[in-house]
Amino acid sequence: MDRNLALEFVRVTEAAALAAGRWVGRGDENMADHAAVEAMRKAFDSMSIDATIVIGEGERDEAPMLYIGEKVGQGSGPRIDIACDPLEGTSITAKGGSEALAVIAAAEHGNFLHAPDTYMRKLAVGPGARGVIDIRETPTWNLQRIAKAMKKQVQDLVVIVLDRPRHQDLIGEIRQAGACIRLIGDGDVSAAIATAEPSTGVDVLMGTGGAPEGVIAAAALRCLGGDFQGVLEWRKDEERVRARAMGITDEKRIYGIEDLAKGHVMFVATGVTNGSYLRGVRYSAQGAFTHSIVMRSQTGTIREIKSHHTFANKPNYGW
Ligand code: FBP
Repeated sequence: MDRNLALEFVRVTEAAALAAGRWVGRGDENMADHAAVEAMRKAFDSMSIDATIVIGEGERDEAPMLYIGEKVGQGSGPRIDIACDPLEGTSITAKGGSEALAVIAAAEHGNFLHAPDTYMRKLAVGPGARGVIDIRETPTWNLQRIAKAMKKQVQDLVVIVLDRPRHQDLIGEIRQAGACIRLIGDGDVSAAIATAEPSTGVDVLMGTGGAPEGVIAAAALRCLGGDFQGVLEWRKDEERVRARAMGITDEKRIYGIEDLAKGHVMFVATGVTNGSYLRGVRYSAQGAFTHSIVMRSQTGTIREIKSHHTFANKPNYGW
């Protein structure tokens, strides 16, 4: 994939973040999400790519834009697949919380798992513990292996877990093992990325969240040199039927990082609200400031891009 595409994609996540940023703390998740989706969709259309959404806002019958299978871009240029979440953290945004992102991952055609809209049990670590995790084993076993690889004690580890009743046993076991826990309300893509950045103080992500977000997090960790494993978890039979139609034949399969995002991948995110990695959108008299990250697995280059947008000089996608 052309490396210049990565910088083009920043315009797309910036557009989504700028639009969603207007809805921070306004208590309306739907409007925040809608604003991000519409802006991202419009921004894609200015790109010279022949792209297909493989992870997006849902299936065609339930999403008017950025649905799975939708073509975006001008139809010329390289054929690529896109996994996007225009607003990862709709509820965070509506409440004015932290760690909401606009996100895109891109790969050559056929390189992302077409993850159904179900749950995924996830285990994510940064480069220091790559290759030592095994989601089939217990949380305690994994924490001991991760601590050893990182030359730490288990009690030195910080594990991020989504604060959900379904994680009661997991939380109990992590505490019993002696590690610290950071419970979060939402946003496990940002949490997975945090495991690869020592300054966040986070070492591990454990627990169950959205499967589409799992693929996006795997793409990010491919670029950051971390590791990720996932197992799909089903809420209802209807999801299994849909998954079979999407090509999932083994419902209990353990997905390694390359099963989710293989080949050369790119990951781009812009902060909507402030987070441990990215700053959120800040509006100015003339426009707004955004903070983005752009990463490519091929080179491992990680770029941070701080932009000031002058609204009078830009097409208005909803800001
Ligand atoms: P959205 O904002 O995109 O809806 O996702 C937020 C999120 O917290 C994800 O980060 C996470 O994977 C998922 O929702 C968890 O789902 P649930 O809220 O059903 O536990």
